[in-house]
Amino acid sequence: KGEPLLDTRKRPLRDLRISVTDRCNFRCTYCMPREVFDANYPFMPHASLLSFEEITRLASVAVSQGVQKIRLTGGEPLLRKDIEKLVAMLAELRTPQGDPVELTLTTNATLLRKKAAALKEAGLNRVTVSLDALDPVLFEQMSDSQVAVDTVLDGIQAAAEVGLAPVKVNMVVRKGLNDSQILPMAEYFRNSGHVLRFIEYMDVGSTNGWNLDEVVTGKEILSLIGAQYPLEPVQADYAGEVAERWRYQDGSGEIGVITSVSHPFCGDCSRARMSPEGRLYLCLFADQGYDLRAVLRGGASNEELAAHLAGIWQGRTDRYSEQRGKETVSRRKIEMSYIGG
Ligand code: GTP
Ligand code: 5AD
Ligand code: SF4
Ligand code: SF4
Repeated sequence: KGEPLLDTRKRPLRDLRISVTDRCNFRCTYCMPREVFDANYPFMPHASLLSFEEITRLASVAVSQGVQKIRLTGGEPLLRKDIEKLVAMLAELRTPQGDPVELTLTTNATLLRKKAAALKEAGLNRVTVSLDALDPVLFEQMSDSQVAVDTVLDGIQAAAEVGLAPVKVNMVVRKGLNDSQILPMAEYFRNSGHVLRFIEYMDVGSTNGWNLDEVVTGKEILSLIGAQYPLEPVQADYAGEVAERWRYQDGSGEIGVITSVSHPFCGDCSRARMSPEGRLYLCLFADQGYDLRAVLRGGASNEELAAHLAGIWQGRTDRYSEQRGKETVSRRKIEMSYIGG
C-alpha cells in the first residue's frame, strides 16, 4: 500500500465517474438528439445493468487503488430507482488512509426537489446541475423537453436548502444557440452561493455533428463577463482540476470555465469512467471500454479485481483533447448519455 497507481504518463487514478443509467428525461440536442434517441433506440435492458452491490464492490476496489472521489452520472442518475440506497452504500467506503470518499452527482435537477433530502441523508456531499439557458423558450429548445426551467431552478434551490452545497451549475455554451444566455446566467447566479461553470462545447459521441465553429472559448466567455463584472483568478483546489476558477472582484461569488477544446487538461487527468453495465473507459472520448462486469460475474476475488484494474490503469495512454484534430473528431466514440460527461 502507499504507492500510488500510475498510468504511462505518470497520472494517478483519483476520480471514478459511475454512470448508473443510459436513460434521460431530456433530449438535449447535443447529447441525445431525439432523431437518434427515439422510441426505437436500444437502451440497456435492466438485467445488463450492474446492481448496486456490484457497483459498490467495483467502487471499493477502485478506492483501494487510490480513488478519492466518486461522481454518479447518467443519463439522468435520479431516474435509477432507489439511487439514494446506492449513495448510502458508497458513503460507507473508506480509503486506505481511512477517509470517506467525496461523493457527488451530476443531474438535470428535474427530480431534485423530490430527492434532495434523501440524497443528503444518505451521505451525498454535493450536486452539479446541468442548465444551459434561463430563457424559457431557449431552455425548452436546448433540452427538447416539456419540463419548465423553473423546475430546474427550484431543484437547485432544494439542493442548497438541504446542504448539498455549494451547488455547481454547468452550462454548455454553443455559439449562435445559447451564447446570448452567458450574461443572464452570470447575473442570475451572482450572489447565490452557487458556482456557475461554462463548458466549451465538445465533440463527444458521434451523434451531435460537432463543429469547431460552434465553440465559444473560455477566454471569450471570461472577457464578456469580466467587462461587466471584473474578475480575478482563484488558485486551483488540486492538480488536475477540470474547471479553471475565477471570482468576482466585488465578492459576489465564483465562476469557472471548462476549456477542454481551447486549453486541454489531459496532462493530469486522473479520471476513469464506468458505464451502467460495468465497462471501464479511460477517457471521455474513448471508443472502447474494459468489461469489468465479466470479470466480476466470473467470480474474481477483490484481490484479482484490484490487480486487473491496476493493469488496465497502468497501460493507459489516453490524452484525446490534446490530440484533437480533423481525423479524431470523426472517429467513433462513446456517447455522453452512456458515460455521463
Ligand atoms: P467538481 O468541480 O469537483 O464538482 O468536478 P468536475 O469539475 O469534474 O465537474 P463535472 O463532473 O461537473 O465536470 C464538468 C464537465 O466538464 C463535464 O460534464 C464534462 O463536460 C467536462 N469534463 C469533466 N471531466 C472531463 C475530462 O476528463 N475530459 C474532458 N474533456 N472533459 C471533462
Ligand atoms: N460538450 C460539452 N458538454 C457536454 N455535456 C453533454 N454533452 C456535451 C458536449 N458535447 C455536459 C452536460 C452536462 C455534463 C454531464 O456534460 O450538459 O453538464
Ligand atoms: Fe440528459 Fe444530461 Fe444528456 Fe441533457 S446532457 S440529454 S440532461 S444526460
Ligand atoms: Fe482525460 Fe480524455 Fe478528457 Fe483528456 S480528453 S482530460 S484524457 S478524459
